[in-house]
Amino acid sequence: MTRSASGASALPTLAALQRAGQPIVMLTAYDFPSGRVAQEAGVDVVLVGDSAAMTVLGYTTTRDISVDELLVLTRAVRRAVTKIPLIGDLPFGSYEHSDASAVATARRFVDEAGCDAVKLEGADGMLSRVTAIIAAGIPVIGHVGLLPQSVTSPEGYRARGRDAEQALEIITGAEQLEAAGCVALVVEAVPSEVGALISERVRIPVIGIGAGGATGGQVLVYHDLLGLGEGRSARFVRRYAAARDVLIDAVRRWADDVRSHRFPSAEEGYGMPVEEVEALRKKLG
Ligand code: KIV
Repeated sequence: MTRSASGASALPTLAALQRAGQPIVMLTAYDFPSGRVAQEAGVDVVLVGDSAAMTVLGYTTTRDISVDELLVLTRAVRRAVTKIPLIGDLPFGSYEHSDASAVATARRFVDEAGCDAVKLEGADGMLSRVTAIIAAGIPVIGHVGLLPQSVTSPEGYRARGRDAEQALEIITGAEQLEAAGCVALVVEAVPSEVGALISERVRIPVIGIGAGGATGGQVLVYHDLLGLGEGRSARFVRRYAAARDVLIDAVRRWADDVRSHRFPSAEEGYGMPVEEVEALRKKLG
C-alpha cells in the first residue's frame, strides 16, 4: 500500500496560493520521469490525468483506460512527486454508476497510489458521488466544460458553453460542485467569459485549460506543452518545446551511427587485461 508522500495537508496549498493571489500551476504527468520534471520545474500540483489513455497508452479516447492501468501510472508518478500534491483522475466507468463504486475507486487512488485528492468529470448526476467521496475523507476536484470522457470521436473535442444556455448549465454545474464540497475545479475549453464568470462566482480555486486568463490557475497536458504528441494541438495549447522532433532526431542519429560502425567507440566499451585475454584464448583452445 502506498501512502500520500506529501501528506493530507497538501491540498490547502491550493487555497493558500489562491488567497495570496498567485496563479496555480498544474501539470499532468504519467510516469516517474515526467513527475520528476514537473516537481523540479516547480509546478504547484500534478494531475495523473486519464489523458494518459491517449498520450501514453495509444488509445483513441480517454474512455478506454482502466482503473488498473491508470493506477500503475499514478504509482510511478507518486514515486517521483514527493513534495507537492498529486491528484488521481477517476477513469470513465469507474465512478458514475453508484456512490459506492465512486468511493471504492477513489479509495484505490488514495490507498494504492498515494493520491492527495481525486478528480471526476461532470456535475449533473455526480453531486452525490462527490459528497460520498468527501464523506469518505477524500478531497475531490470537479471538472466542467468540455468533459473528455463524454467524447467518443476526435470531432467531439470542441469548446463548450458558447451559447448562453449551455454556458449557464456549465456555470450552474460549477456552483453545484462547490456546494457539494469540491476543493477546486478544472474548467476545460469554454469561452474566456465563461471561465471568468465561474471564477467570479465560486470561491474555490478554478484551474483552467482553454478557459481564458481570468481563472485562478492553469493546467496543461505534459505532452502538449513539450510537443511530444503527434498531430495538431488544441487552440489552447502553447508548445514550449518540440520534444518529439528532438527525440526522433536523436534516435535517428544513433541508428545511423550503429549502421555506419561509429557506435560504440572503444571508450564506450569495457576493457580486459591482455594476459586475461591470452588466458581465455588458451582455455578456449
Ligand atoms: O486527463 C487530463 O489530462 C485532464 C486535464 C485535461 C485537466 O483532465
